[in-house]
Amino acid sequence: MRTGKTFLNKKISLEDIGLYDKMIFAFVFMFVIPMLLTLYLIFLAPRLIDNKDSLLTHIRIIIVWMTACGLLGYLFIRRTIKTLVAIIKQAEELSLGSNGQRIDVAWNDELKALARSFNKIKSDLETKIKELQYSRSLTRELFQRMGHAMTSSQKMEALLNIIVHGMRKVLETQSTFIALYDNDNKLYLKAYAGSQKDLRGNMMLSDVKGAIGRTILNLGPIIIKKNPADKAEQGEDIIHYETNIVCVPILVKDKLKGVLGATDKAGIQNVDKEDIFLLENVASQIAICVENMELSKDIEETYYNTLVMLARIVEARDPYSAGHLERVSSYVEMVAEKLDIDDETKKILTGGALLHDLGKVGIEDTILKKEGVLTPQEYEMMKQHSIIGENILKPLRSMSKLSSVVRHHHEMYDGTGYPNGLKGEEIPLAARILTVADIYDAITTDRPYRKAMSREEAIKTLISYAGNKLDPKLVEIFTNVI
Ligand code: SIN
Ligand code: FE
Repeated sequence: MRTGKTFLNKKISLEDIGLYDKMIFAFVFMFVIPMLLTLYLIFLAPRLIDNKDSLLTHIRIIIVWMTACGLLGYLFIRRTIKTLVAIIKQAEELSLGSNGQRIDVAWNDELKALARSFNKIKSDLETKIKELQYSRSLTRELFQRMGHAMTSSQKMEALLNIIVHGMRKVLETQSTFIALYDNDNKLYLKAYAGSQKDLRGNMMLSDVKGAIGRTILNLGPIIIKKNPADKAEQGEDIIHYETNIVCVPILVKDKLKGVLGATDKAGIQNVDKEDIFLLENVASQIAICVENMELSKDIEETYYNTLVMLARIVEARDPYSAGHLERVSSYVEMVAEKLDIDDETKKILTGGALLHDLGKVGIEDTILKKEGVLTPQEYEMMKQHSIIGENILKPLRSMSKLSSVVRHHHEMYDGTGYPNGLKGEEIPLAARILTVADIYDAITTDRPYRKAMSREEAIKTLISYAGNKLDPKLVEIFTNVI
Protein backbone atom coordinates (compact mmCIF):
# COMPACT_ATOMS: atom_id res chain seq x y z
CA MET A 1 0.00 0.00 0.00
CA ARG A 2 1.05 3.49 -0.70
CA THR A 3 2.05 5.50 2.37
CA GLY A 4 1.45 9.17 3.08
CA LYS A 5 5.14 9.82 2.75
CA THR A 6 5.44 8.52 -0.77
CA PHE A 7 2.26 10.36 -1.58
CA LEU A 8 3.92 13.62 -0.50
CA ASN A 9 7.29 12.86 -2.07
CA LYS A 10 5.94 11.73 -5.42
CA LYS A 11 4.57 13.87 -8.16
CA ILE A 12 0.83 13.31 -7.95
CA SER A 13 -0.52 11.55 -11.04
CA LEU A 14 -3.82 9.86 -11.74
CA GLU A 15 -2.04 6.51 -11.67
CA ASP A 16 -0.87 7.04 -8.13
CA ILE A 17 -3.89 8.19 -6.21
CA GLY A 18 -6.12 5.95 -4.16
CA LEU A 19 -9.83 5.25 -4.26
CA TYR A 20 -10.60 7.57 -1.35
CA ASP A 21 -8.39 10.34 -2.84
CA LYS A 22 -10.10 9.83 -6.18
CA MET A 23 -13.42 10.47 -4.54
CA ILE A 24 -12.06 13.72 -3.02
CA PHE A 25 -10.64 14.72 -6.41
CA ALA A 26 -13.96 14.02 -8.07
CA PHE A 27 -15.71 16.03 -5.33
CA VAL A 28 -13.24 18.89 -5.77
CA PHE A 29 -13.57 18.90 -9.57
CA MET A 30 -17.30 18.44 -9.73
CA PHE A 31 -18.43 20.45 -6.71
CA VAL A 32 -15.80 22.55 -4.91
CA ILE A 33 -14.17 24.15 -7.96
CA PRO A 34 -17.46 24.84 -9.83
CA MET A 35 -18.96 26.18 -6.58
CA LEU A 36 -15.98 28.50 -5.94
CA LEU A 37 -16.05 29.66 -9.55
CA THR A 38 -19.82 30.30 -9.31
CA LEU A 39 -19.38 32.28 -6.07
CA TYR A 40 -16.55 34.20 -7.70
CA LEU A 41 -18.75 34.92 -10.71
CA ILE A 42 -21.68 36.07 -8.58
CA PHE A 43 -19.95 38.08 -5.88
CA LEU A 44 -16.42 39.03 -6.94
CA ALA A 45 -16.27 39.23 -10.72
CA PRO A 46 -18.91 42.03 -11.14
CA ARG A 47 -17.04 44.12 -8.60
CA LEU A 48 -13.55 43.52 -10.01
CA ILE A 49 -14.36 43.82 -13.71
CA ASP A 50 -16.10 46.99 -14.97
CA ASN A 51 -15.89 46.33 -18.63
CA LYS A 52 -18.96 44.41 -19.75
CA ASP A 53 -17.20 42.74 -22.67
CA SER A 54 -14.29 41.50 -20.63
CA LEU A 55 -16.74 40.31 -17.93
CA LEU A 56 -18.55 38.27 -20.58
CA THR A 57 -15.25 36.78 -21.80
CA HIS A 58 -14.40 36.06 -18.17
CA ILE A 59 -17.74 34.31 -17.63
CA ARG A 60 -17.20 32.22 -20.80
CA ILE A 61 -13.72 31.15 -19.77
CA ILE A 62 -14.98 30.21 -16.31
CA ILE A 63 -17.89 28.21 -17.77
CA VAL A 64 -15.41 26.36 -19.99
CA TRP A 65 -13.33 25.62 -16.88
CA MET A 66 -16.37 24.50 -14.94
CA THR A 67 -17.38 22.17 -17.79
CA ALA A 68 -13.83 20.82 -17.99
CA CYS A 69 -13.80 20.19 -14.22
CA GLY A 70 -17.17 18.43 -14.39
CA LEU A 71 -15.97 16.32 -17.30
CA LEU A 72 -12.75 15.44 -15.48
CA GLY A 73 -14.70 14.43 -12.37
CA TYR A 74 -17.02 12.35 -14.51
CA LEU A 75 -14.07 10.57 -16.17
CA PHE A 76 -12.58 9.88 -12.75
CA ILE A 77 -15.76 8.30 -11.50
CA ARG A 78 -16.34 6.43 -14.76
CA ARG A 79 -12.90 4.82 -14.75
CA THR A 80 -13.22 3.79 -11.11
CA ILE A 81 -16.66 2.33 -11.56
CA LYS A 82 -15.58 0.52 -14.74
CA THR A 83 -12.79 -1.25 -12.87
CA LEU A 84 -15.09 -2.13 -9.99
CA VAL A 85 -17.67 -3.50 -12.41
CA ALA A 86 -14.95 -5.59 -14.10
CA ILE A 87 -13.96 -7.10 -10.73
CA ILE A 88 -17.58 -7.84 -9.80
CA LYS A 89 -18.19 -9.40 -13.22
CA GLN A 90 -15.10 -11.54 -12.83
CA ALA A 91 -16.24 -12.68 -9.39
CA GLU A 92 -19.59 -13.59 -10.86
CA GLU A 93 -18.00 -15.58 -13.70
CA LEU A 94 -15.76 -17.38 -11.27
CA SER A 95 -18.65 -18.31 -9.01
CA LEU A 96 -20.42 -19.70 -12.08
CA GLY A 97 -17.34 -21.72 -12.92
CA SER A 98 -16.40 -20.05 -16.20
CA ASN A 99 -12.80 -19.32 -17.03
CA GLY A 100 -12.65 -15.56 -17.41
CA GLN A 101 -9.67 -13.36 -18.14
CA ARG A 102 -7.47 -12.00 -15.44
CA ILE A 103 -8.33 -8.50 -14.30
CA ASP A 104 -5.95 -5.86 -15.60
CA VAL A 105 -5.94 -2.70 -13.60
CA ALA A 106 -3.48 -0.03 -14.63
CA TRP A 107 -4.00 2.24 -11.65
CA ASN A 108 -1.60 1.77 -8.82
CA ASP A 109 -4.09 2.08 -6.01
CA GLU A 110 -6.47 0.11 -3.82
CA LEU A 111 -8.25 -1.12 -6.91
CA LYS A 112 -5.03 -2.60 -8.15
CA ALA A 113 -4.46 -4.25 -4.76
CA LEU A 114 -8.02 -5.53 -4.78
CA ALA A 115 -7.62 -6.85 -8.31
CA ARG A 116 -4.30 -8.44 -7.37
CA SER A 117 -5.72 -10.27 -4.37
CA PHE A 118 -8.73 -11.23 -6.41
CA ASN A 119 -6.51 -12.60 -9.17
CA LYS A 120 -4.61 -14.58 -6.55
CA ILE A 121 -7.80 -16.04 -5.09
CA LYS A 122 -8.86 -16.91 -8.62
CA SER A 123 -5.62 -18.65 -9.57
CA ASP A 124 -5.52 -20.47 -6.20
CA LEU A 125 -9.05 -21.64 -6.79
CA GLU A 126 -8.19 -22.75 -10.31
CA THR A 127 -5.23 -24.76 -9.02
CA LYS A 128 -7.39 -26.33 -6.30
CA ILE A 129 -10.12 -27.17 -8.82
CA LYS A 130 -7.55 -28.73 -11.17
CA GLU A 131 -6.07 -30.76 -8.29
CA LEU A 132 -9.53 -31.90 -7.25
CA GLN A 133 -10.48 -32.83 -10.80
CA TYR A 134 -7.23 -34.75 -11.18
CA SER A 135 -7.65 -36.66 -7.93
CA ARG A 136 -11.29 -37.32 -8.82
CA SER A 137 -10.32 -38.77 -12.17
CA LEU A 138 -7.62 -40.91 -10.50
CA THR A 139 -10.09 -42.18 -7.94
CA ARG A 140 -12.64 -42.89 -10.64
CA GLU A 141 -10.03 -44.79 -12.67
CA LEU A 142 -9.05 -46.86 -9.64
CA PHE A 143 -12.63 -47.72 -8.76
CA GLN A 144 -13.39 -48.54 -12.39
CA ARG A 145 -10.45 -50.95 -12.44
CA MET A 146 -11.63 -52.47 -9.18
CA GLY A 147 -15.22 -52.73 -10.31
CA HIS A 148 -14.13 -54.40 -13.51
CA ALA A 149 -11.90 -56.79 -11.59
CA MET A 150 -14.67 -57.60 -9.11
CA THR A 151 -17.12 -58.58 -11.81
CA SER A 152 -14.72 -60.32 -14.18
CA SER A 153 -12.25 -62.05 -11.94
CA GLN A 154 -13.05 -65.40 -10.43
CA LYS A 155 -10.20 -65.69 -8.04
CA MET A 156 -9.68 -63.53 -4.99
CA GLU A 157 -5.92 -63.57 -5.56
CA ALA A 158 -6.22 -62.15 -9.08
CA LEU A 159 -8.63 -59.49 -7.85
CA LEU A 160 -6.34 -58.37 -5.02
CA ASN A 161 -3.42 -58.18 -7.43
CA ILE A 162 -5.37 -55.96 -9.77
CA ILE A 163 -6.24 -53.72 -6.82
CA VAL A 164 -2.65 -53.30 -5.54
CA HIS A 165 -1.23 -52.70 -9.01
CA GLY A 166 -4.05 -50.29 -9.86
CA MET A 167 -3.52 -48.39 -6.62
CA ARG A 168 0.21 -48.22 -7.12
CA LYS A 169 -0.23 -46.76 -10.58
CA VAL A 170 -3.02 -44.38 -9.74
CA LEU A 171 -1.64 -43.12 -6.42
CA GLU A 172 1.97 -43.33 -7.60
CA THR A 173 2.97 -45.12 -4.44
CA GLN A 174 6.30 -46.81 -3.95
CA SER A 175 4.44 -49.92 -2.90
CA THR A 176 0.93 -51.06 -2.08
CA PHE A 177 0.00 -54.23 -0.24
CA ILE A 178 -2.95 -56.21 1.09
CA ALA A 179 -2.61 -58.55 4.06
CA LEU A 180 -5.52 -60.80 5.03
CA TYR A 181 -6.23 -63.27 7.79
CA ASP A 182 -6.60 -66.87 6.62
CA ASN A 183 -8.68 -69.66 8.13
CA ASP A 184 -5.82 -70.40 10.53
CA ASN A 185 -6.25 -66.87 11.99
CA LYS A 186 -2.79 -65.89 10.83
CA LEU A 187 -2.05 -62.83 8.74
CA TYR A 188 -0.69 -63.40 5.21
CA LEU A 189 0.55 -61.06 2.52
CA LYS A 190 -2.04 -61.64 -0.20
CA ALA A 191 -1.00 -59.06 -2.78
CA TYR A 192 1.96 -56.73 -3.18
CA ALA A 193 2.91 -54.21 -5.85
CA GLY A 194 6.36 -52.73 -5.41
CA SER A 195 10.03 -53.31 -5.92
CA GLN A 196 10.78 -55.38 -2.83
CA LYS A 197 11.94 -58.73 -4.18
CA ASP A 198 11.93 -60.55 -0.83
CA LEU A 199 8.14 -60.30 -0.53
CA ARG A 200 6.19 -63.28 -1.82
CA GLY A 201 2.47 -63.82 -2.04
CA ASN A 202 1.02 -65.74 0.90
CA MET A 203 4.01 -65.16 3.19
CA MET A 204 3.08 -64.93 6.84
CA LEU A 205 3.27 -61.47 8.43
CA SER A 206 3.34 -60.41 12.04
CA ASP A 207 0.09 -58.83 13.16
CA VAL A 208 1.64 -57.26 16.24
CA LYS A 209 4.80 -55.65 14.92
CA GLY A 210 5.46 -52.52 12.90
CA ALA A 211 2.97 -50.40 11.02
CA ILE A 212 0.65 -53.37 10.37
CA GLY A 213 0.64 -54.28 14.06
CA ARG A 214 -0.17 -50.70 15.01
CA THR A 215 -3.07 -50.57 12.54
CA ILE A 216 -4.49 -53.77 13.97
CA LEU A 217 -4.08 -52.54 17.53
CA ASN A 218 -5.59 -49.20 16.61
CA LEU A 219 -8.37 -50.70 14.43
CA GLY A 220 -8.10 -47.48 12.49
CA PRO A 221 -5.83 -45.77 9.99
CA ILE A 222 -2.25 -44.99 10.90
CA ILE A 223 0.37 -42.83 9.22
CA ILE A 224 4.00 -43.16 10.09
CA LYS A 225 6.24 -40.39 8.80
CA LYS A 226 9.83 -41.35 8.91
CA ASN A 227 12.95 -39.29 8.78
CA PRO A 228 14.70 -40.71 5.68
CA ALA A 229 18.10 -40.05 7.27
CA ASP A 230 17.30 -42.28 10.23
CA LYS A 231 17.78 -45.81 8.93
CA ALA A 232 17.24 -47.39 12.35
CA GLU A 233 13.64 -46.25 12.31
CA GLN A 234 12.69 -48.98 9.82
CA GLY A 235 12.42 -51.19 12.87
CA GLU A 236 10.08 -54.14 12.63
CA ASP A 237 8.40 -53.47 9.30
CA ILE A 238 8.74 -56.12 6.62
CA ILE A 239 7.44 -53.63 4.06
CA HIS A 240 10.16 -51.01 3.56
CA TYR A 241 9.44 -47.34 3.26
CA GLU A 242 11.64 -44.34 2.76
CA THR A 243 9.49 -41.60 4.24
CA ASN A 244 5.88 -42.57 4.85
CA ILE A 245 3.67 -45.55 5.37
CA VAL A 246 -0.09 -45.41 5.60
CA CYS A 247 -2.21 -48.39 6.62
CA VAL A 248 -5.94 -48.87 7.07
CA PRO A 249 -7.74 -51.89 8.51
CA ILE A 250 -9.97 -54.03 6.28
CA LEU A 251 -13.14 -54.50 8.30
CA VAL A 252 -16.25 -56.58 7.57
CA LYS A 253 -19.01 -55.55 9.97
CA ASP A 254 -16.42 -54.45 12.54
CA LYS A 255 -14.60 -57.75 12.21
CA LEU A 256 -10.96 -57.34 11.26
CA LYS A 257 -10.08 -59.15 8.04
CA GLY A 258 -6.71 -57.59 7.25
CA VAL A 259 -4.76 -54.47 6.40
CA LEU A 260 -4.37 -52.37 3.27
CA GLY A 261 -1.25 -50.24 3.08
CA ALA A 262 0.76 -47.94 0.86
CA THR A 263 4.21 -46.47 1.20
CA ASP A 264 5.90 -43.33 -0.04
CA LYS A 265 3.65 -41.51 -2.36
CA ALA A 266 5.78 -40.14 -5.17
CA GLY A 267 3.65 -37.14 -6.06
CA ILE A 268 3.34 -35.82 -2.56
CA GLN A 269 5.84 -36.64 0.07
CA ASN A 270 3.25 -36.13 2.74
CA VAL A 271 0.40 -38.57 2.99
CA ASP A 272 -2.71 -36.57 3.76
CA LYS A 273 -6.28 -37.12 4.95
CA GLU A 274 -7.48 -37.45 1.37
CA ASP A 275 -5.18 -40.44 0.83
CA ILE A 276 -6.49 -42.08 3.99
CA PHE A 277 -10.02 -41.48 2.81
CA LEU A 278 -9.21 -43.12 -0.52
CA LEU A 279 -7.47 -46.03 1.15
CA GLU A 280 -10.42 -46.53 3.49
CA ASN A 281 -12.74 -46.62 0.50
CA VAL A 282 -10.61 -49.21 -1.26
CA ALA A 283 -10.39 -51.20 1.99
CA SER A 284 -14.16 -51.28 2.26
CA GLN A 285 -14.37 -52.52 -1.34
CA ILE A 286 -11.89 -55.27 -0.48
CA ALA A 287 -13.95 -56.04 2.62
CA ILE A 288 -17.06 -56.45 0.44
CA CYS A 289 -15.09 -58.77 -1.84
CA VAL A 290 -13.79 -60.81 1.08
CA GLU A 291 -17.30 -61.06 2.48
CA ASN A 292 -18.76 -62.04 -0.90
CA MET A 293 -16.07 -64.63 -1.42
CA GLU A 294 -16.70 -66.06 2.05
CA LEU A 295 -20.43 -66.12 1.46
CA SER A 296 -20.15 -67.76 -1.93
CA LYS A 297 -17.64 -70.23 -0.46
CA ASP A 298 -20.17 -71.06 2.25
CA ILE A 299 -22.93 -71.46 -0.33
CA GLU A 300 -20.74 -73.61 -2.57
CA GLU A 301 -19.71 -75.76 0.37
CA THR A 302 -23.34 -76.24 1.35
CA TYR A 303 -24.23 -77.06 -2.27
CA TYR A 304 -21.33 -79.49 -2.49
CA ASN A 305 -22.32 -81.23 0.75
CA THR A 306 -25.91 -81.47 -0.46
CA LEU A 307 -24.72 -83.05 -3.69
CA VAL A 308 -22.58 -85.56 -1.81
CA MET A 309 -25.66 -86.43 0.22
CA LEU A 310 -27.65 -86.80 -2.99
CA ALA A 311 -24.94 -89.06 -4.43
CA ARG A 312 -25.18 -91.25 -1.32
CA ILE A 313 -28.98 -91.45 -1.71
CA VAL A 314 -28.50 -92.51 -5.34
CA GLU A 315 -25.98 -95.09 -4.21
CA ALA A 316 -28.49 -96.40 -1.65
CA ARG A 317 -31.05 -96.97 -4.43
CA ASP A 318 -28.74 -99.55 -5.94
CA PRO A 319 -28.09 -102.32 -3.38
CA TYR A 320 -25.21 -103.72 -5.42
CA SER A 321 -23.21 -100.52 -5.28
CA ALA A 322 -23.28 -100.17 -1.49
CA GLY A 323 -20.03 -98.68 -0.23
CA HIS A 324 -18.83 -97.98 -3.81
CA LEU A 325 -18.31 -94.24 -3.25
CA GLU A 326 -16.26 -94.68 -0.08
CA ARG A 327 -14.10 -97.40 -1.63
CA VAL A 328 -13.43 -95.45 -4.81
CA SER A 329 -12.54 -92.40 -2.65
CA SER A 330 -10.01 -94.37 -0.66
CA TYR A 331 -8.49 -95.88 -3.86
CA VAL A 332 -8.01 -92.51 -5.55
CA GLU A 333 -6.49 -91.09 -2.37
CA MET A 334 -3.96 -93.93 -2.35
CA VAL A 335 -3.00 -93.18 -5.97
CA ALA A 336 -2.87 -89.42 -5.30
CA GLU A 337 -0.33 -90.05 -2.52
CA LYS A 338 2.01 -91.67 -5.06
CA LEU A 339 1.59 -88.93 -7.64
CA ASP A 340 3.12 -85.49 -7.38
CA ILE A 341 -0.18 -83.60 -7.74
CA ASP A 342 -1.24 -80.28 -6.28
CA ASP A 343 -3.86 -79.79 -3.57
CA GLU A 344 -6.46 -78.52 -6.04
CA THR A 345 -6.26 -81.68 -8.19
CA LYS A 346 -6.40 -83.78 -4.99
CA LYS A 347 -9.62 -82.01 -3.99
CA ILE A 348 -11.09 -82.53 -7.46
CA LEU A 349 -10.15 -86.19 -7.28
CA THR A 350 -11.91 -86.68 -3.93
CA GLY A 351 -14.95 -84.75 -5.19
CA GLY A 352 -14.94 -86.80 -8.40
CA ALA A 353 -14.80 -90.06 -6.43
CA LEU A 354 -17.86 -89.05 -4.37
CA LEU A 355 -19.86 -87.41 -7.16
CA HIS A 356 -18.99 -89.29 -10.38
CA ASP A 357 -22.24 -91.29 -10.50
CA LEU A 358 -24.44 -88.47 -9.15
CA GLY A 359 -26.11 -88.28 -12.58
CA LYS A 360 -27.74 -91.65 -11.91
CA VAL A 361 -30.35 -89.58 -10.06
CA GLY A 362 -31.81 -89.02 -13.53
CA ILE A 363 -31.78 -92.70 -14.56
CA GLU A 364 -34.92 -94.75 -14.18
CA ASP A 365 -35.04 -97.43 -11.48
CA THR A 366 -35.93 -100.09 -14.06
CA ILE A 367 -32.50 -99.54 -15.63
CA LEU A 368 -30.60 -98.74 -12.47
CA LYS A 369 -31.90 -101.75 -10.54
CA LYS A 370 -32.13 -104.19 -13.45
CA GLU A 371 -31.07 -107.68 -12.43
CA GLY A 372 -29.37 -108.55 -15.67
CA VAL A 373 -27.28 -107.15 -18.50
CA LEU A 374 -28.69 -103.91 -19.98
CA THR A 375 -30.03 -103.93 -23.53
CA PRO A 376 -28.15 -101.62 -25.95
CA GLN A 377 -30.97 -99.07 -25.64
CA GLU A 378 -30.94 -99.24 -21.86
CA TYR A 379 -27.17 -98.91 -21.89
CA GLU A 380 -27.45 -95.75 -24.04
CA MET A 381 -29.76 -94.30 -21.40
CA MET A 382 -27.42 -95.37 -18.62
CA LYS A 383 -24.54 -93.58 -20.39
CA GLN A 384 -26.43 -90.32 -19.92
CA HIS A 385 -25.54 -90.34 -16.21
CA SER A 386 -22.11 -88.77 -16.81
CA ILE A 387 -23.68 -85.84 -18.67
CA ILE A 388 -26.51 -85.45 -16.14
CA GLY A 389 -23.89 -85.39 -13.36
CA GLU A 390 -21.85 -82.79 -15.19
CA ASN A 391 -24.92 -80.60 -15.65
CA ILE A 392 -25.77 -80.73 -11.96
CA LEU A 393 -22.28 -79.49 -11.05
CA LYS A 394 -21.85 -77.00 -13.88
CA PRO A 395 -23.67 -74.02 -12.32
CA LEU A 396 -20.94 -73.77 -9.70
CA ARG A 397 -18.06 -71.79 -11.12
CA SER A 398 -15.60 -73.28 -8.64
CA MET A 399 -16.63 -76.79 -9.70
CA SER A 400 -16.00 -76.45 -13.42
CA LYS A 401 -13.00 -78.82 -13.27
CA LEU A 402 -14.91 -81.26 -11.08
CA SER A 403 -17.86 -81.25 -13.49
CA SER A 404 -15.50 -82.06 -16.35
CA VAL A 405 -14.07 -85.03 -14.37
CA VAL A 406 -17.62 -86.29 -13.80
CA ARG A 407 -18.39 -85.91 -17.51
CA HIS A 408 -15.32 -87.85 -18.56
CA HIS A 409 -15.19 -90.64 -15.93
CA HIS A 410 -16.18 -93.24 -18.55
CA GLU A 411 -13.69 -92.15 -21.25
CA MET A 412 -11.21 -94.87 -22.17
CA TYR A 413 -7.49 -94.29 -22.75
CA ASP A 414 -7.76 -95.65 -26.33
CA GLY A 415 -10.72 -93.39 -27.17
CA THR A 416 -13.39 -96.09 -26.99
CA GLY A 417 -15.18 -94.57 -23.99
CA TYR A 418 -18.03 -92.10 -23.64
CA PRO A 419 -19.43 -89.47 -23.92
CA ASN A 420 -16.73 -87.78 -26.07
CA GLY A 421 -14.39 -90.65 -26.99
CA LEU A 422 -11.41 -88.66 -25.70
CA LYS A 423 -7.99 -90.32 -25.99
CA GLY A 424 -4.92 -90.51 -23.71
CA GLU A 425 -3.94 -87.23 -22.11
CA GLU A 426 -6.99 -85.51 -23.60
CA ILE A 427 -8.83 -87.07 -20.68
CA PRO A 428 -8.31 -85.03 -17.47
CA LEU A 429 -5.78 -86.74 -15.15
CA ALA A 430 -8.28 -86.91 -12.28
CA ALA A 431 -10.80 -88.63 -14.60
CA ARG A 432 -8.17 -91.16 -15.74
CA ILE A 433 -7.30 -92.03 -12.12
CA LEU A 434 -10.99 -92.25 -11.25
CA THR A 435 -11.67 -94.65 -14.15
CA VAL A 436 -9.03 -97.10 -12.92
CA ALA A 437 -10.46 -97.02 -9.36
CA ASP A 438 -14.08 -97.21 -10.61
CA ILE A 439 -13.38 -100.25 -12.80
CA TYR A 440 -11.40 -101.99 -10.05
CA ASP A 441 -14.28 -101.52 -7.60
CA ALA A 442 -16.88 -102.60 -10.16
CA ILE A 443 -15.09 -105.87 -10.96
CA THR A 444 -14.32 -106.66 -7.32
CA THR A 445 -17.98 -106.42 -6.23
CA ASP A 446 -20.86 -108.79 -6.98
CA ARG A 447 -23.30 -107.89 -9.73
CA PRO A 448 -26.69 -109.63 -10.33
CA TYR A 449 -25.26 -111.09 -13.53
CA ARG A 450 -21.69 -111.95 -12.35
CA LYS A 451 -19.61 -112.71 -9.30
CA ALA A 452 -16.92 -110.43 -7.86
CA MET A 453 -13.32 -111.03 -8.92
CA SER A 454 -10.57 -111.61 -6.36
CA ARG A 455 -7.92 -108.92 -5.83
CA GLU A 456 -5.38 -110.91 -7.89
CA GLU A 457 -7.80 -111.53 -10.77
CA ALA A 458 -8.79 -107.88 -10.75
CA ILE A 459 -5.15 -106.76 -10.83
CA LYS A 460 -4.56 -109.06 -13.81
CA THR A 461 -7.61 -107.64 -15.54
CA LEU A 462 -6.42 -104.05 -14.94
CA ILE A 463 -2.96 -104.95 -16.30
CA SER A 464 -4.63 -106.36 -19.40
CA TYR A 465 -6.39 -102.97 -19.84
CA ALA A 466 -3.12 -100.98 -19.48
CA GLY A 467 -2.44 -98.99 -22.64
CA ASN A 468 -5.86 -99.76 -24.18
CA LYS A 469 -8.76 -98.99 -21.87
CA LEU A 470 -6.60 -97.52 -19.10
CA ASP A 471 -3.57 -95.23 -18.69
CA PRO A 472 -0.65 -97.69 -18.30
CA LYS A 473 1.27 -95.48 -15.85
CA LEU A 474 -1.78 -95.19 -13.62
CA VAL A 475 -2.48 -98.94 -13.79
CA GLU A 476 1.09 -99.55 -12.62
CA ILE A 477 0.73 -97.17 -9.68
CA PHE A 478 -2.73 -98.51 -8.82
CA THR A 479 -1.75 -102.18 -8.89
CA ASN A 480 1.21 -101.35 -6.65
CA VAL A 481 -0.81 -99.53 -3.98
CA ILE A 482 -3.91 -101.73 -3.92
C1 SIN B 1 -21.62 -96.88 -13.80
O1 SIN B 1 -21.25 -95.76 -14.08
O2 SIN B 1 -21.45 -97.33 -12.67
C2 SIN B 1 -22.35 -97.74 -14.79
C3 SIN B 1 -22.28 -97.27 -16.19
C4 SIN B 1 -21.25 -97.97 -17.01
O3 SIN B 1 -20.83 -99.06 -16.62
O4 SIN B 1 -20.89 -97.45 -18.09
FE1 FE C 1 -20.30 -94.08 -13.76
